[in-house]
Amino acid sequence: GEMVRYTGNIFLVGLMGAGKTTVGRALAKKLNKLFIDSDHEIEARTGVSIPLIFEIEGEESFRQRETEVIRDLSGRRGIVLATGGGAVMRPENREYLKTRGTVIYLRASIHNILQRTSRDKNRPLLQTADPRRRLEELSRQREPYYRDVADIVIDTGRPNVQFLVHSILSQL
Ligand code: S3P
Repeated sequence: GEMVRYTGNIFLVGLMGAGKTTVGRALAKKLNKLFIDSDHEIEARTGVSIPLIFEIEGEESFRQRETEVIRDLSGRRGIVLATGGGAVMRPENREYLKTRGTVIYLRASIHNILQRTSRDKNRPLLQTADPRRRLEELSRQREPYYRDVADIVIDTGRPNVQFLVHSILSQL
């Protein structure tokens, strides 16, 4: 396809299961940039899985690790970074994201998120009796912050990765 040039960082935000990793990877390929997923980076640094970090250290400690990773990675040049769904809740993370790159909010319906995460054991926050209710709650809390940090809002109602990537590229 056509060559697209963009020199800055791109940060993807949005609820878990919105497609940040899938879209981010495809976007990075198209822009010839390095793709990094902050959850994977945390796992690489600690050597254990996200669910195990939650279990052993608790959520606060996970959030501290997440902030360190976002601080470090957002300071690089020309990467595509997928952040964890809860990253926008800390003011310092919002500041890093807003000032160090272009932020893309991938917006998905609860219905689609539930379909994509239904058999997923990697998201400790959804290990509850009523994941729909939990997601609705998280969505209500987080939506204002996703919008606050976002330069571009992409509705993922049409879940075709190449379509979404094209839509992002046309707005950069
Ligand atoms: C979380 C989302 C996860 C991961 C952790 C907490 C959240 O990332 O960081 O389980 O608070 O929404 P994804 O958005 O990549 O699933």
